[in-house]
Amino acid sequence: MTTPPTPPPDEVFDWLDVEAEKRASAGLVRQLRPRPARADELDLAGNDYLGLARDKRVAGASAAAALRWGAGSTGSRLVTGSTELHTELELELARFCGAQAALVFSSGFAANLGAVTALSGSESAIVTDKYIHASLIEGCRLSRADVAAVAHSTPSAIKHALATRRKPRALVVTDSVFSVDGDLAPLDELAGICRSHGAALLVDDAHGFGVLGEGGRGAVHAAGLSGAPDVVTTLTLSKSLGAQGGAVVGPRRVIKHLIDTARSFIFDTALAPASVAAALSALHALKEEPGLAGKVLENAGNLAMSLKAAGLKASVPDAAVISVQAPSAETAVAWAAACAEQGIRVGCFRPPSVPDGISRLRLTARADLTESDVDRAVKVITATAPRGAIA
Ligand SMILES: Cc1ncc(COP(=O)(O)O)c(C=O)c1O
Repeated sequence: MTTPPTPPPDEVFDWLDVEAEKRASAGLVRQLRPRPARADELDLAGNDYLGLARDKRVAGASAAAALRWGAGSTGSRLVTGSTELHTELELELARFCGAQAALVFSSGFAANLGAVTALSGSESAIVTDKYIHASLIEGCRLSRADVAAVAHSTPSAIKHALATRRKPRALVVTDSVFSVDGDLAPLDELAGICRSHGAALLVDDAHGFGVLGEGGRGAVHAAGLSGAPDVVTTLTLSKSLGAQGGAVVGPRRVIKHLIDTARSFIFDTALAPASVAAALSALHALKEEPGLAGKVLENAGNLAMSLKAAGLKASVPDAAVISVQAPSAETAVAWAAACAEQGIRVGCFRPPSVPDGISRLRLTARADLTESDVDRAVKVITATAPRGAIA
């Protein structure tokens, strides 16, 4: 007679409830809020900086590619996932950014994981600004390198960490525009420090591409570093290009190395043709309308100035991102919800997404914001501000 199988224990995941309670009492519960296809609210939370996600050319190119190539890419880039669209996007991205080559990944997150891990290893030291994006942090964790995360926007700390490293190779990793406060890294100074210490520079230009530099060529281009043999740029196709996916742009031998060794490229299904076509079409739109990038900056400046004039602790934007300080995680969440109730969708950043522990509303400007959009947003954000948010 066989013994009946042991019933699965109910309590194996009990610890999740304990953790959930801890998050609830710290005001750290996250909520999924599906957005309607056509929202009446004013979107100051998304990353569609140039308004291209719904552009008819972009959405149309995406739909046509899905019909021609299929809904999915069918496999890894190295098996059946590469199409001529992928190659075309890579050539155009490289040319636009002034780099030798580019490689498209399935997301910006995957591009960062792949670039950081493939360009480092146990013989490397990685030095990062401590406010880099989570995807870069995960890349550092997987890298097996010696990792030093130094004070935010402090080139002298990067210099010191490079000078005192114990590994022969070195990689400095930074965001161009930091995702929380929207401030710009001192890229030219960092490049100089890297050069005097034999280090390569990896810049995540997720928030700079399409917004900064000539015609939106990005922060690396604006700093005069595009095409440099020691600088590698990572991009997302999901913000200014209004599509989906990621890319690494840089020297040809770096791109070849990534094709052979980046695990998030090799062991990942290729970006869907519909997304590749959308990104390609958005890139064409950006080339045709180079003024779009400047418009985002202008709108971000106006929005931040008006928020400050209303007494709010708003950051001075270097690109599209503006942060407004809140007194606590709970008040930040309630503030964002109150804005949504009045038709203004804003983001809300709180620990652990903010490394300094300061909770914030996070606003993003877009090229298509009107003066009356800005006025309405400032009125609602001010009227719903919690005690302590206005100076
Ligand atoms: C700075 C930065 N890097 C990388 C990413 C990841 O890009 P993706 O959303 O394409 O995975 C994001 C976006 O969410 C980001 O803000």
